[in-house]
Amino acid sequence: MITIERDEIGRVNVVHTPDDSNYDGGSDKMKMVTCIVRPEKLESIADTLDKMHIVGMTVTDVRGFGRQKGQVEHYRGGEYTIRFINKVRLDVVVQDEDVKKVMEAVSKAASTGNVGDGKIFVTPVENAMRIRTKEVGTSAL
Ligand SMILES: Nc1ncnc2c1ncn2[C@@H]1O[C@H](COP(=O)(O)OP(=O)(O)OP(=O)(O)O)[C@@H](O)[C@H]1O
Ligand SMILES: [Mg+2]
Repeated sequence: MITIERDEIGRVNVVHTPDDSNYDGGSDKMKMVTCIVRPEKLESIADTLDKMHIVGMTVTDVRGFGRQKGQVEHYRGGEYTIRFINKVRLDVVVQDEDVKKVMEAVSKAASTGNVGDGKIFVTPVENAMRIRTKEVGTSAL
């Protein structure tokens, strides 16, 4: 249900009051595109996503390893392994139809061609809410 309210100085405030059917995640199809990338690629990836009008993302500093199980370093004649390498994780929730173009854009911007370029995981998102307006589903993106 949508109600229009006005605040004390007359500004319009649209209030979405979700009924229970809006919480079941039923009809809106969204995916979380999680990208683990090199930290130095973050800016150009963010620029690319901006140009595509992706309206939000979450960035987290993370550490991890892939198939090479870290990285062998040489120091003062010794050899040791850095198991966890610093990466950046980007979480972008988009409508299903935008998943492919986000994956293509991120993989292009994140690529150096060397091992450790990163990985993209796609997972279903049940529902979302914009807290201020209480909009749910894809309207909340
Ligand atoms: N299977 C996985 N599960 C969770 N995180 C992973 C997985 N594989 C890779 N990652 C994350 O992605 C980061 C980058 O992985 P990376 O690019 O080295 O993958 P890879 O499979 O080893 O590919 P490449 O051979 O190109 O290096 C890792 O540091 C880790 O944070
Ligand atoms: Mg690797």
